[in-house]
Amino acid sequence: RIPIWLDCDPGHDDAVAILLACFDPRFQLLGISASYGNAPPKNTAYNALSVVTALGAANRVRVYAGAQKPWVRDAIYAPDIHGESGLDGTSLLPIPIVGLVTETTYLEAIEQAVEEHAGEFCFVSTGSMTSVATLLREKSHLKPKIKYVSIMGGGINVGNRNVLESAEFNIWIDPQAANFLFLDPIMKDKCILAGLDLTHKAIATKQVQQTVLGDGTSNLRKLFYELFLFFSRTYENVQFFEKGPPVHDPLALLALLAIEDEGAAQKIQFQYKRMDLHALEDESDLNIGQTQVLKEYPTNGSLGTIVGFDMNMEYFWQQVYHALDKAAQI
Ligand code: BDR
Ligand code: CA
Repeated sequence: RIPIWLDCDPGHDDAVAILLACFDPRFQLLGISASYGNAPPKNTAYNALSVVTALGAANRVRVYAGAQKPWVRDAIYAPDIHGESGLDGTSLLPIPIVGLVTETTYLEAIEQAVEEHAGEFCFVSTGSMTSVATLLREKSHLKPKIKYVSIMGGGINVGNRNVLESAEFNIWIDPQAANFLFLDPIMKDKCILAGLDLTHKAIATKQVQQTVLGDGTSNLRKLFYELFLFFSRTYENVQFFEKGPPVHDPLALLALLAIEDEGAAQKIQFQYKRMDLHALEDESDLNIGQTQVLKEYPTNGSLGTIVGFDMNMEYFWQQVYHALDKAAQI
């Protein structure tokens, strides 16, 4: 099993990433940190605790407070897409039965997890890159012990934020943190990017939504269905996605599986390029947050960030359904 830490900002699609991280047997989930992003950090923490409670995983998965704000920029949230709470659209989210872990910080907890799984540990980031960048700035000795950092963020030919819509949200809200990894000689070759080029192909169509709902007897399925419905509405109104919303975040997990698990790789059919990246940091630039390509490398080598462009989306949705089946049995 791949030992992972999930840093997220739930977030409708983050909730699906939590589902997969908890129930796909190929992952060993070591912990979750909830960071500011789609909503203020208090909200994302509550949402993460509520989702693990709904999943029946609250007693086995510990949730920590992650990064509280960006390194340089003022915080920007995404109520237009995720609602004020960060996870609007359903009344089925339970009151959490556990609280955040407070004995240790997320940085200390992740450090311990990396040390216990040195060489195998993978970090999955589905919010801003502030948490992972802070970890590696404060504890740089961990860099060689981390195998991959799999990121939902960025986009080479497509964006969803800034005036020109040339940036992707997770990078846009903290480009300095993104560059801390993209420009790091050790870390850049260990990054896997599930950016918008890839995630805009993961559309939760009406058919996907109906399959998620099933026969309507499972509260958990209904909860995810309602989250998808809300996400559909905002994506249609704000981003003009008519066929359904792109469910970005769980693709960071699938991309990691494609790289790390040979058996899964055959089915995932992950298409990627390897490249050095850079995020525009300049506040005066209309393109602030845009992901730019500095250099391309051969795909079969080991240099450059692995940047996803396509995968077998049928297979991806199957994994979501499998995870839901398992979780709904609890
Ligand atoms: C990313 O931004 C957030 O709104 C989503 O949760 C996802 O991580 C997509 O740009
Ligand atoms: Ca997210």
